Amino acid sequence: MHNDIKEILFTKQEIDMMVHKIASQINEDFKGEELIAVIILKGSMIFAADLIRCLTVNVKLDFMQASSYGSGTTSSGVINIKKDIDTDIKGKNVLLIEDIIDSGNTLNLLKQEMQSRGAKTVKIASLLSKPDRRVVDIEVEYIGTDILDEFVVGYGLDMDEKYRQMDYIGILKPEIYM
Ligand code: IMP
Ligand code: MG
Repeated sequence: MHNDIKEILFTKQEIDMMVHKIASQINEDFKGEELIAVIILKGSMIFAADLIRCLTVNVKLDFMQASSYGSGTTSSGVINIKKDIDTDIKGKNVLLIEDIIDSGNTLNLLKQEMQSRGAKTVKIASLLSKPDRRVVDIEVEYIGTDILDEFVVGYGLDMDEKYRQMDYIGILKPEIYM
């Protein structure tokens, strides 16, 4: 598995620092309020597990699995919800937790979906962001760090469901995915 990695991008220690930074921002912004954390499966489960244990605000969890498609025929794309949350989010503060934001389509559509269900606020926490790849203009309130346009794996991030269990984030060798 480690032979497939070209370069270590973030060590476990560096990831921990990003997680703590995001958590303290959330703790500050939601002081005294309740939060519904919507964990976007599968990639963000490891990030979310670490993040929520650093939260001091009152937090409830739910899970969602979705993919976006249709960018060839429509400008906004279409969301395919494979697994939906059970929580009634009407009037609630929702925090969407994602591993990485790339084009922004998935989170843009999920944010709209949460807003249409009557959420009081919808904010996004993403460990990583690839700003050069963005096709929709979307505000991401909490970002661990920006990265360049390279394919990364580990700490929940996968390539064909592999590498999720690595405790660091690495850049995959191009020959692995080409
Ligand atoms: P978006 O809708 O284009 O923003 O897609 C975001 C999704 O693409 C993430 O949830 C990941 O599943 C996947 N993704 C994007 N870049 C990477 C990467 O570098 N490694 C692993 N997954 C990625
Ligand atoms: Mg994914």
